Amino acid sequence: MAKLKANINVDTLNLNLPVVEGTVGYPAIDVSSLHSHGIKTFDPGFSSTAECTSSITFVDGGKGELLHRGHPIEQLAEKCEFLDIAYLLFNGELPNSREKTIFTNAIKEHSLLHDQLTNIFRGFRRDAHPMAVMVGVVGSMSAFYFDETMKVGNLNHRKLSAQRLIAKVPTIAAWSFAYSNGSPFVYPKEELSYSENFLNMMFSGPNIKYLQNPIITKAFEKILILHADHEQNASTSTVRLVGSSGANPFACIAAGIASLWGPAHGGANEATLKMLSEIRNERRIGEYIKRAKDKSDNFRLMGFGHRIYKNKDPRAIIMKATCHEVLDELGLRNDPIFKLALKLENIALEDDYFVKKKLYPNVDFYSGIVMKALGIPNSMFTAVFALARTAGWVAHWNEMLTNEKSKIGRPRQIYTGKLRRDVPNL
Ligand code: CMC
Repeated sequence: MAKLKANINVDTLNLNLPVVEGTVGYPAIDVSSLHSHGIKTFDPGFSSTAECTSSITFVDGGKGELLHRGHPIEQLAEKCEFLDIAYLLFNGELPNSREKTIFTNAIKEHSLLHDQLTNIFRGFRRDAHPMAVMVGVVGSMSAFYFDETMKVGNLNHRKLSAQRLIAKVPTIAAWSFAYSNGSPFVYPKEELSYSENFLNMMFSGPNIKYLQNPIITKAFEKILILHADHEQNASTSTVRLVGSSGANPFACIAAGIASLWGPAHGGANEATLKMLSEIRNERRIGEYIKRAKDKSDNFRLMGFGHRIYKNKDPRAIIMKATCHEVLDELGLRNDPIFKLALKLENIALEDDYFVKKKLYPNVDFYSGIVMKALGIPNSMFTAVFALARTAGWVAHWNEMLTNEKSKIGRPRQIYTGKLRRDVPNL
């Protein structure tokens, strides 16, 4: 294909700008030289802006395609475990069996928290949201790991930080819930897998034995795989931006967790279940669909729509199948909340407004339902998303620091405030 060129005329200024092209996907006009002409680009929400080059994840919203390091999400979800994906995202290739053993052992070894961290948990109010606790505790790990093993310019140190984060975030997430519940902290166990460990830390106790169910573990593993990475979304861009100043990785990931928490991003799964319990009754679905379409009402159907996927969210298709498997296995098909969810899905899929605007159920519509069925409390839904996305965040953080051309993120603005004026004598 001939090299694309961009020609921009700004008043009398005529500029030929280079076009950056990836291996696949859209071209991007390289506007980085515009600032030397005193011109900026304006793109609120960054819909038309590629902030970086990246070789980790590719999303084709039109086709509904998601690739990690070239591998389609459908194949990864079928053939891999979550830790394979975490390894792939960071290192570029799936691990062979030796690499997998080493990586899995490292994750197990790092899954314990420094005992002093329990004091940080205890500083929170009992009714704090687990995401608030996670932001605080993950950020506070920067006070534990800032020594000679933590030079962000050193690849081995970045690998170690990434492993510590992937290993410890599930423990922090489970303990955030235990703390809000007043339950004792359950420690990770050597003999359990990554997903089994999280479920055990969530649901067992001194006198409660959690019985592992392979269907539940598999469904949980799918949730983690499908949420592991999704290129430059709000939280990943936040991690990159914070990391661009050379900040401590635990502080970067805490910022990512904070960004993920919002209902327009990772908070959508929790918001979906909240919405379902508010709708309560199948007879009230019509009323809520009407509200979602009403421009004067800011209510939106949570779990529907996506900035990038305008035809299908490939993750949603996989999660939907898992959702049906789990509802069958647990005998929950006739549970009112799940019946309501499936009815709402059908009605919205046939409604003109949703069809025309290409608003399909996204992954979080189904992951919320699956997590509810697994007994994970609503307040933990986004925390589970955060522990999965930690794998993607650390991979992007590492990639950004590996790229010699990376520099500190420093967007500009269009100032619309008052012109210069004197301070009156008060
Ligand atoms: N319910 C009703 N109307 C909607 C919805 C919805 N869920 N989503 C979008 N619309 C309408 C919106 O009002 C707008 O209408 P109009 O063109 O008449 O002004 C049009 O569809 C386009 O919406 P938008 O807000 O410009 O689209 P966006 O790409 O900026 O927003 C979104 C994407 C995901 C924030 C949005 O669809 C939404 O708020 N969905 C509900 C929250 C949700 O489920 N979020 C999870 C996203 S998936 C998880 C992740 O990857 O983080």
